[in-house]
Amino acid sequence: MLNFADKTMNEARQGEAYIGEVSLGEIPLKRFYIESYGCQMNFSDSEIIASILHTEGFGPTQNVEDADLIFLNTCSIREKAEQTVRKRLTEFRKIKKQRPAMLIGVLGCMAERLKSKLLEEEKLVDIVVGPDAYRSLPQLIDEAESGTKAVNVLLSREETYADISPVRLNSNGINAFVSIMRGCNNMCAFCVVPFTRGRERSRDEASILAECKDLFDQGYKEVTLLGQNVDSYYWVDPKTNHPVDFAMLLEKVANISPSLRIRFSTSHPKDITDKVLHTMKSHANICKYIHLPVQSGSTRILQLMNRTYTREWYLAKVKRIKEIMPDCAISADIIAGFCTEDEQDHQDTLDVMRQSQYEYSYMFMYSERPGTLAAKRYKDDVPDEVKKRRLDEIVKLQNSLSLETNRKDIGKVFEVLIEGNSKKSPNQWMGRNSQNKVMVFDKTNVSSIQPGCFVHVMAEKCTQGTLMGRIVNPS
Ligand code: 5AD
Ligand code: SF4
Repeated sequence: MLNFADKTMNEARQGEAYIGEVSLGEIPLKRFYIESYGCQMNFSDSEIIASILHTEGFGPTQNVEDADLIFLNTCSIREKAEQTVRKRLTEFRKIKKQRPAMLIGVLGCMAERLKSKLLEEEKLVDIVVGPDAYRSLPQLIDEAESGTKAVNVLLSREETYADISPVRLNSNGINAFVSIMRGCNNMCAFCVVPFTRGRERSRDEASILAECKDLFDQGYKEVTLLGQNVDSYYWVDPKTNHPVDFAMLLEKVANISPSLRIRFSTSHPKDITDKVLHTMKSHANICKYIHLPVQSGSTRILQLMNRTYTREWYLAKVKRIKEIMPDCAISADIIAGFCTEDEQDHQDTLDVMRQSQYEYSYMFMYSERPGTLAAKRYKDDVPDEVKKRRLDEIVKLQNSLSLETNRKDIGKVFEVLIEGNSKKSPNQWMGRNSQNKVMVFDKTNVSSIQPGCFVHVMAEKCTQGTLMGRIVNPS
């Protein structure tokens, strides 16, 4: 599943609201302000929402004060994610009291989970829209403007927004997300996503290729193909009846141009195939990085989680990845303190981490979500302080693994896509290598080297989060 963000997570990129800014070159009828929380899919959905609103004459603004409509695109993955949104709604409520005509809409997973209950709980919310109902937003806005509370949380078996060209919000013009499927059929016991995002469905292959090609033509250098479980992508062309699986899609996107980089997220260990791995290997522009959530290293816990693999099976998958692509980086999602987890289970998780040598992990304390299989079947019986302690141990181990893997990279030369200035100095660039590692290096006096350029960088020093180096000539 995709990486979700909230403040329980240990690293940046998390929980920060992302506010749309884009110039559409015309004076909009009304202005909307949108904040996105949670996974990359939500951020990508906000771009679809912006496109739907744009067609209706609405324009985005970065200023709440200028907005006629405020939207929160929400996440339900952990309780904390929902708390963050509720806090934000309290802040918006104050603005609404001064400007009652302004409308507040809750979109996404929290809207889907709580449905019209949200209108009762959060009195000043006017619009509630689930992830499959964004096309009805203009109509719902009309209803809300005429004083009716507007709700649409219908889930769909078909909706993929395939024909909608996303309006890129806050884009750097270099990296873009392209959604290739929606929903999830996996029913992991802890996870609310199958309930909030509905059944899995793949997007029309032609529309994905057209969007990627268009991004490339606009000058984008990297696309990330998004889905809760990209490896189960499956599309049958209605004209030719030819089936397309994820490996085939990946190959077609890679063939758009050797200078367009491809990433994807997320892979379920049970579904990623050798065919995908070989496709990755045979295309230099498909990044050598796989996000492969393990969740737990204990077979007993994995069974309770309904992950459908054992620890041995997972480790064999990691081994296979490294056999086919020795330079491939792997990251994971890990949950500490799932129902009935004991010290041995926890040790098993630490052990799988050591054996897998993750470059990076997203680590969470288990948070029971209403309606999930785990909430129905099991007791959330690991005390909070035990969850916290185990999470700390997991984070500590990951920090040392990250440092170790970064140290092994010292002396190596990587192709890096420059994304912008480094956070610390305007005299340094920041970019990522194929393995998704952040690299920071001094600018040179070659003026053609700018964000969006590929350069070769030799890693010379590192921290656990960054490789520091210098630009070199390709060898
Ligand atoms: N509690 C804690 N973490 C969770 N995740 C999903 N549901 C929960 C939950 N109820 C984590 C999983 C998933 C990642 C996106 O979020 O690790 O892969
Ligand atoms: Fe990911 Fe499992 Fe949740 Fe599906 S049910 S989104 S595979 S964690």
